[in-house]
Amino acid sequence: MSVLLTNIGELVTNDPEHGGSRQARPTGAGFRGADGLGIVPGAAVVVDDGRIAWTGPAASAPAADVAVDLGGRCVIPGFVDSHSHTVFAGDRSAEFAARMTGEPYTGGGIATTVAATRAAGDDALRARGQALVREMLAQGTTTVEIKSGYGQDIATEARTLRIARELTPETTYLGAHTVPAEYADDRPGYLALVTGPMLAACTPHARWVDVFCEPAAPTAFDEDESRAVLLAGIRAGLGARVHGNQLSAGPGVRLAVEVGAASVDHCTHLTDADVDALAGSWSAGSGGSQGSDDGHGTVATLLPAVEFSTRSPYPDARRLLAAGVPVALATDCNPGSGYSSSMPFVVALAVREMRMSPAEALWSATAGGAAALRRDDVGHLGVGARADLTVLDAPGHTYLAYRPGVPLVSEVWKDGARAG
Ligand code: NIG
Ligand code: FE
Repeated sequence: MSVLLTNIGELVTNDPEHGGSRQARPTGAGFRGADGLGIVPGAAVVVDDGRIAWTGPAASAPAADVAVDLGGRCVIPGFVDSHSHTVFAGDRSAEFAARMTGEPYTGGGIATTVAATRAAGDDALRARGQALVREMLAQGTTTVEIKSGYGQDIATEARTLRIARELTPETTYLGAHTVPAEYADDRPGYLALVTGPMLAACTPHARWVDVFCEPAAPTAFDEDESRAVLLAGIRAGLGARVHGNQLSAGPGVRLAVEVGAASVDHCTHLTDADVDALAGSWSAGSGGSQGSDDGHGTVATLLPAVEFSTRSPYPDARRLLAAGVPVALATDCNPGSGYSSSMPFVVALAVREMRMSPAEALWSATAGGAAALRRDDVGHLGVGARADLTVLDAPGHTYLAYRPGVPLVSEVWKDGARAG
């Protein structure tokens, strides 16, 4: 059955057909300013069989089986949240309260969540994950990535990934989140576990491998350890992504580019060489050890809700954009460093605190997230894309940042059906 969504005040497509840009490309071509969103005013969309069949001016829309009048509201591609940790147990609100009265964030609280997650049954983990994904959907997110990393033993890593897989195809093995207490005096032993039997147990449930590369945090991983984790994952058939440069200008970005990771996430502390390496990764033929020679480099994924919740300086988005590095925005929804599931909040932070334009921020929260997951079927509304659409109770996309904290998402369509 085909559906015509019509009387759309402003349609954001990210589609080159309408002057937009869905694919991240080098030297700034990923996003070409305000018109890079492929905006169609007074628009309509035809959805058929879960996919976009047509977009354009409402006046020239083809007929469909059913018509839905959206009353002049704005329609954007569903948000692509390419970084979250939403299968876990326990509560760390006291850690947040302590931070707000002066305690620094070091990543050390992760152990609290590991203990609670190991002790939790599958049903409790599933219920929490489902609730968070539902919460995300209600805020316009139609694609979400979910990491493990709060198990740090074979059984708990594998079952958190199995549960995450029930919620999304974008699952990431993060056994190397921190070194758990029982291996504090045997880091090589934990590395052997993460790159050996734990990887084997997790690979069937994962698309990606990730590592918290942060020499500045004693429980996270240094450059050589991180490289070993990523290369083992790649050899097992997983794509690479990296938590890098969150607390210091460490080796994470360099390493991500070296192995051809799809994304390096956080990027709060960057050297000029890091920015150059990210920009250079988008030149054809520089695909790292994953051998991507199709122009897919490493996306810089910024997570400003973490800086908000840890009261830290924000990443320098303008420096990355000026260098032509494709930027994604994601929530990093997790119980420790930032427990927001809201992409509209992230967009508002990116605009207000990182000086991204409203259009750049929206592109990064949709097409940018898709590039960070190497997906071309989401993050845009070109013909053939998944019909994942978010309807805003607003006349235009600027309202996402102009009205922060206001629940503007009024409808969400996922695979061509009303989902929220
Ligand atoms: O992305 N950086 C490491 N991991 C998470 C934090 C997880 C936690 O504090 O529980 C992050 O910020
Ligand atoms: Fe994270």
